[in-house]
Amino acid sequence: MNIEIIEIPKIEDYRGNIAVIENEVVPFEIKRVYYLFDVPSSSYRGGHAHKTLIQLLIPLSGSFDVMLSDGKEKQVVTLNKPDKGLLIKPTTWRELGNFSSGAVCLVIASEVYQEEDYIREFDQFIEHVNQS
Ligand code: TYD
Repeated sequence: MNIEIIEIPKIEDYRGNIAVIENEVVPFEIKRVYYLFDVPSSSYRGGHAHKTLIQLLIPLSGSFDVMLSDGKEKQVVTLNKPDKGLLIKPTTWRELGNFSSGAVCLVIASEVYQEEDYIREFDQFIEHVNQS
């Protein structure tokens, strides 16, 4: 699978760093920003794919694993650097787990929330991959 990591430009300073996300950092127009926090370490998030949504996941704090599948191959990516984001393209199954204590996952998305865009059953995801 082709894993795409996006480097967030940063201003390094002995007083602390600043990472800046302007529209050109992200390969889509930003329509929504949300974040996962207070995630119990034993908990899993995701467990779905999207038909059209593109997302950039950034571990603002702590770390977590992202399992990705394109219906043929699987890959696990550990996110633990706040200046490195994982781009998730449409038609990609994802599961997030192994959250460290205090982990925060920022999600930058190409669309507002639309339940119709979700594929929540893995069997339906495989059907969708085979149709497209
Ligand atoms: P979901 O995307 O399934 O969570 P995750 O992939 O992180 O496990 O969303 C969980 C619930 O929150 C679901 O009922 C839809 C709702 N939700 C919104 O209303 N707006 C949003 O922008 C998001 C991301 C979720």
